[in-house]
Amino acid sequence: MKIDGKPYRTIWVAPGGGAVEVIDQTKLPHRFEIVRLGDLAAAAHAIKAMVVRGAPLIGAAGAYGMALALDKDPSDAGLAQAYETLVVTRPTAINLRWALDRVRAAVSPLASDARAAAAWTLAAEICDEDAAICEAIGEQGLKLIEAAWDKKGRTGVVNVLTHCNAGWLATVDWGTAIAPIYKAHDKGIPIHVWVDETRPRNQGASLTAWELGKHGVPHRIVADNSGGHLMQHGLVDLCIVGTDRVTARGDVCNKIGTYLKALAAKDNGVPFYVALPSPTIDWTVADGVKEIPIEERSPLEVTRIAGRLPDGTVVEVDIAAPGSPARNDAFDVTPARLVTALITERGVCAATGEGLLGLFPEARAKAVG
Ligand code: MRU
Repeated sequence: MKIDGKPYRTIWVAPGGGAVEVIDQTKLPHRFEIVRLGDLAAAAHAIKAMVVRGAPLIGAAGAYGMALALDKDPSDAGLAQAYETLVVTRPTAINLRWALDRVRAAVSPLASDARAAAAWTLAAEICDEDAAICEAIGEQGLKLIEAAWDKKGRTGVVNVLTHCNAGWLATVDWGTAIAPIYKAHDKGIPIHVWVDETRPRNQGASLTAWELGKHGVPHRIVADNSGGHLMQHGLVDLCIVGTDRVTARGDVCNKIGTYLKALAAKDNGVPFYVALPSPTIDWTVADGVKEIPIEERSPLEVTRIAGRLPDGTVVEVDIAAPGSPARNDAFDVTPARLVTALITERGVCAATGEGLLGLFPEARAKAVG
């Protein structure tokens, strides 16, 4: 996607090679900064500290982390250490483990002096694939937005509510939940997005609103608690969210607060769609509530907030009394029964095992019931 007319992805090989560059998402929307990742430790830190975040982008960054590590130590021990270091950085998004497994399986059989080059090539392929998958998700989801537009008699505006950031910043390019919105906007369908602020880290207010604004898509940031009210008053035509892991039977793990939006959507008859690239499906897990590990982050993310002063300085301030305890679960699970449909690169399907297997029949052997 473009920033002020210049095309960007979220991650790329640094000029001259041997390092990776990423957009530092901890600085947005106040500053646009690019960070160079030169080794395994830098890649692991970038994922853990959310310099890069969003399930597909975490996977791409993990793959490049493996390449950076193998440049320094391509031995079996070096490969194992790189995998173990990266896989624990963020536990919930399955795309990280998927990408690390893919790189490890590809390079393990190779002679050690061939491993690094193969990992660099594969990481680049994973990025290109992600961009293509997300664009295809955009085309599939566009049909749903067009249907909503038709239902309104092609008058007024299609109102979409989204949670967290599942736009191009969360992927290599295009995004998942936001890709159909870009496609619809580019096609001339009048669309307006309700952007949940997404406490505690405010990915909606800081990232989704920023990227929609850069693309010229009309939107408004709303407090996280507003969604139910907006739906009750007919101000939401459909919800589209992303996901960090979808189980074999269609349960959806996504940013904390997604479940509440799905409940409100069900109560108000608003379609609740989840957009996902196929690497986000964890075919080994059936019950998302019981089986998906939920990342618990620092309580300080709840009790402090960062913002920009009029002079441009960015500061962090406490919003709770000193010593007030807090808890910070980063994700929740929306049971499949609350999901109207899943939007994948191959098409739209029911949030059920059979729905998913209808689009991905090759996974039948490994899918749990
Ligand atoms: O904690 P984050 O910012 O990495 O969480 C991101 C989300 O929950 C996104 O909605 C999800 O990864 C889907 S992104 C295409």
